[in-house]
Amino acid sequence: MSAAAAAGPTTSPTFSPTGTFVPGEPWSSGVRRGPDGALSVGGVDVRELAAAQGTPAYVLDEADLRERARSYRRAFETAFAEVGAGVDVYYAGKAFLSVAVARWLHAEGLRIDTATGGELAVALRAGVPGEHVGLHGNNKSDAEIARALDAGVGRIIVDSLVEVERVAAAARARGGAPAPVMLRVTTGVHAGGHEYISTAHEDQKFGLSLATAPGAQDEDSPAMTALLAVLAHPELELLGIHSHIGSQILDPSGFEVAARKVLELRAALAARTGFLVPEVDLGGGYGIAYLPGEVSLDPDRIAKDIAASVAATSAELGTPLPRFSIEPGRAIVGPAGLTLYTVGTVKPVRVAGGGAGPEAETFVRTYVSIDGGMSDNIRPALYGADYHAELANRLSDAAPVLARVVGKHCESGDIVVHEVLLPGDVRAGDLLAVPATGAYGRSMASNYNHVPRPPVVAVAEGETRVLVRRETEDDLLALDLG
Ligand SMILES: Cc1ncc(COP(=O)(O)O)c(C=O)c1O
Repeated sequence: MSAAAAAGPTTSPTFSPTGTFVPGEPWSSGVRRGPDGALSVGGVDVRELAAAQGTPAYVLDEADLRERARSYRRAFETAFAEVGAGVDVYYAGKAFLSVAVARWLHAEGLRIDTATGGELAVALRAGVPGEHVGLHGNNKSDAEIARALDAGVGRIIVDSLVEVERVAAAARARGGAPAPVMLRVTTGVHAGGHEYISTAHEDQKFGLSLATAPGAQDEDSPAMTALLAVLAHPELELLGIHSHIGSQILDPSGFEVAARKVLELRAALAARTGFLVPEVDLGGGYGIAYLPGEVSLDPDRIAKDIAASVAATSAELGTPLPRFSIEPGRAIVGPAGLTLYTVGTVKPVRVAGGGAGPEAETFVRTYVSIDGGMSDNIRPALYGADYHAELANRLSDAAPVLARVVGKHCESGDIVVHEVLLPGDVRAGDLLAVPATGAYGRSMASNYNHVPRPPVVAVAEGETRVLVRRETEDDLLALDLG
């Protein structure tokens, strides 16, 4: 839970009472409020969408998604070309992956980063050529590695010494060209919104550390040891070094510090072995706006800052620049999505606000229950993530109330929006739209309480297209062998 929510109501300026809807962040570029007060996305009225597709539904604004992909690619290609380096943008499919989305993003010039055999299967089903796909994961199975090698993936990002051996054995068994691998390192840089999504500090499961043990400065770091192990295997081609420092990062300096450490490691390996690793991946994590008043990281600015910084570091180290890659997920798909819910019940609850005895203050919190919840958006419960909500089917001039948007699951922590001002006449049957749910919504969805997962519906130029259909109870029961 956010600190604000734990402490009771706030008067955060990020609250925008319904009816004051302003196009722009955190909404996708295709969201408008029509003259009769209803929201539309990509030219489709949400009331029609809800009537045709039901709720809850994830709604993806295709034009917005494509534009974000283009703007990241343009920004990085331009900024890195200016310092004389090439760059590839891999879309991190864990944020949300479907066959159509993989096709659209590949058509926009992005490659696809996958983290499991399942994600790899979607990218391949979409027709993305293997060489434009990467496979991550801290515990890839032999089957996943074999499938990746069969598909001719462009890179397998190796996460441990055990995996060096595992990938080498699989490549050896196949014969043929060496397997292209990157080594994931942990730089110690800690960035991002929350402990569980900050992946480059030392005490965690990903990557190999750059740090040597205290008092053992003469020994190689785990990262250096693993790089040497990769070089010692003729079945492996050491393609690059990979660093991902966290998610929802809004301060660019973490990327620059991590890049310096990776470039230093690359220079140290070259000094030791004469081998200059050709590629460096700086991971994803570019932060986005979730609430009104917040601003997403600007790809042009961050690309320029990182390019200038890696160019300066490489010049200082006297090593030519590698080819770079990045792996944005959330920044591409997050703002392009919203979730549409129907309100079921509304319940004002008197809550203790502070003080004691007769002086005790109370306030009313209005619990607005919607037809989804933590099964379609686990991020508030998992990370204390904050979201916004807006009445989507009508305007209201009723005085706003402090509302908490909650789901239908058997958990009191089943909260989608901790605090938001909604019109006091919000009632059953109203539609609520929650913006910025395109990333880590459907991809982290569950069937908790046997709730079928919502569909993903794309909208563009007044047309809707179901990308992933709604699950049914029959889908769930089909797995139950009785
Ligand atoms: C290795 C790696 N790359 C890229 C990403 C994507 O991060 P984001 O969606 O925040 O850009 C993640 C997220 O966890 C990751 O682990």
